[in-house]
Amino acid sequence: MAKHPTFTCQSCGAVYNRWRGKCEACGGWNTIVEEVSSAGPLAGPAATRPSRGRGRTFALESLAGESKDAPRTRSGNAEFDRVLGGGIVPGSVILIGGDPGIGKSTLLIQVAARLANAGHRVAYISGEEAIPQVRLRAARLGLAAAPVELAAETCVEDIVATLSQGPAPRLAIIDSIQTMWTDTVESAPGTVSQVRGSAGALIRFAKTHGTALVLVGHVTKDGQIAGPRVVEHMVDCVASFEGDNGHHFRILRAAKNRFGPTDEIGVFEMTDGGLAEVPNPSELFLAGRDLATPGTAVFAGMEGTRPLLVEIQALVAPSSLGTPRRAVVGWDPARLSMVLAVLEAHAGVRLGGHDVYLNVAGGLRVTEPAADLAAAAALVSSLTGSPLPSESVFFGEIGLSGAVRPVTQIPSRIKESVKLGFSAAFGPNPTGESGERHPNAVPLAHVADLVARIASGEDRRPTRRAASR
Ligand code: TYD
Ligand code: MG
Repeated sequence: MAKHPTFTCQSCGAVYNRWRGKCEACGGWNTIVEEVSSAGPLAGPAATRPSRGRGRTFALESLAGESKDAPRTRSGNAEFDRVLGGGIVPGSVILIGGDPGIGKSTLLIQVAARLANAGHRVAYISGEEAIPQVRLRAARLGLAAAPVELAAETCVEDIVATLSQGPAPRLAIIDSIQTMWTDTVESAPGTVSQVRGSAGALIRFAKTHGTALVLVGHVTKDGQIAGPRVVEHMVDCVASFEGDNGHHFRILRAAKNRFGPTDEIGVFEMTDGGLAEVPNPSELFLAGRDLATPGTAVFAGMEGTRPLLVEIQALVAPSSLGTPRRAVVGWDPARLSMVLAVLEAHAGVRLGGHDVYLNVAGGLRVTEPAADLAAAAALVSSLTGSPLPSESVFFGEIGLSGAVRPVTQIPSRIKESVKLGFSAAFGPNPTGESGERHPNAVPLAHVADLVARIASGEDRRPTRRAASR
C-alpha cells in the first residue's frame, strides 16, 4: 500500500500536504509534524480491507420504532453517575480530560473497584504506570481486594484481542489514550494520527461488544502531546476533571453527553483515602466564611439540577494607578466590567478611581449570569465598608439598563438557602409561576434598589464612605 507522508497539526489535528510553520486552522506555531501512515490519516476499517459495501441495499427505519433501551449500570459512585446522566450506558465511550496529577487515575480506579466488587467484569489498562504502581495506589486506597482485571499495555490490537476473550467487560478503562499505539499508523504514540487511530479501534471494540469505555486524556498546552480534542467528536461523552492544587475539591463536568444533560457536575474532595464524594457541596464552599466582613456576598447558584451556594468576595480600594486594576478569579472578567459599568451609570456608584478585585471563594468557577447581583452586592459592600446582612443570599441577572432580571429555578435556589439557614433572599421580582416564596424574600426591581438598601443600613448600620444614590 502506498505510504502518504502527511503533515498534521499536533494541537488541532488539521492535515496539510507540506510542512509549514503556522497552522492555519488553529493559529499554532511550530505544531505541524510529519506523520507517515500506510492508509492516510483517516484510516478506518474500510481502508485496511477491501470494500464490501458497493450497491448493497439495507432497510431504512422510522424514528418511532421500538429499540431496546439498554439499562444503565450504576457505578455506585453517585457523583460520577450524576455526571454521566444516571449511570454508565453499555457500549458508550467516555473521554475524561484533565491536567496531570488532578486525580483521574485515582477516580477511575475507585469506580473500577466499585463495579468489580458489585460483580461486573472490569478491565483497567494502564499505559502510563507499571502494574506495581497501580497496585500500590489501590492498596493505599484500600481497594486491593477488588477483582479488577489489570494490565500495563499500550498496543491497541493486543488490548482488543485480550478483552475479546471471555464475556465482554462491563467497563474498560484506558489510562491514557495518548500512550496507546496501533499497527495501522506509523507515527509515534501521542501524535494526532496515533491518538485518532487508537481511539477508533477501541471505540469499534466498545460498540460491537457493548462494553462501556473510558478514555483518559491529558490536556497539555505545549503542543508536544496531541490533546484529546481530536477524539472529542468520536466519543459519546466528554467530561473534564477540574480543580487546582491549592484546593482539595475536584469537579467532574460534562462538556458533551449523548445520554444525558451537560450541566451536571460531580463534586469530590481529595483526601488521604482517595476522592470522597461530596453530596452537599454548598456546605463545603461556605465553610470558613467570615460573616462580619464587608465585601462578601453569598450567591445562590445552580449547577445543573443542583443548587450550590458559594461566597463571592470583592475588594474595592482607591487606586494609585492611572488605569485602575480589575482582577477576577473564578468569574468572567467581561461580566465584571459590565456590572461595574451598570453600577456607575445607573446607581451612581463611582468605581472609576478604585482597584477592583473579585474572587469566588474555594476556587470554584461560576459561569451563570445569575451571579451578577451577588457580585454587585459584594462590590457595593466593599466600597461602602458596610457588611451585608450575614444571613442573606443573592441571585439575579443585571441587565444593561440596571434592571434585575429573572433567573431560572428560583424555587430550588430558595429551598437550598432555607435548608442552610439563610433567612433572606435578595432576588428578582418573582414571576407568576415560581410559587415558592422565601419567608423573607427581598424582591429587587433595579440595581439602584440594592445599592440604596446596602448604603441606607436598613439591615445594618453602615459606615458610609462613598457616594451612592
Ligand atoms: P492521579 O490520580 O495519579 O492523577 P492523574 O491520573 O490525573 O494524573 O492523582 C495524583 C495526585 O493525587 C497526587 O498528587 C496525589 C493525590 N492523591 C491524594 O491526595 N490522595 C490519594 O489517596 C491518592 C491516591 C492520590
Ligand atoms: Mg494518571
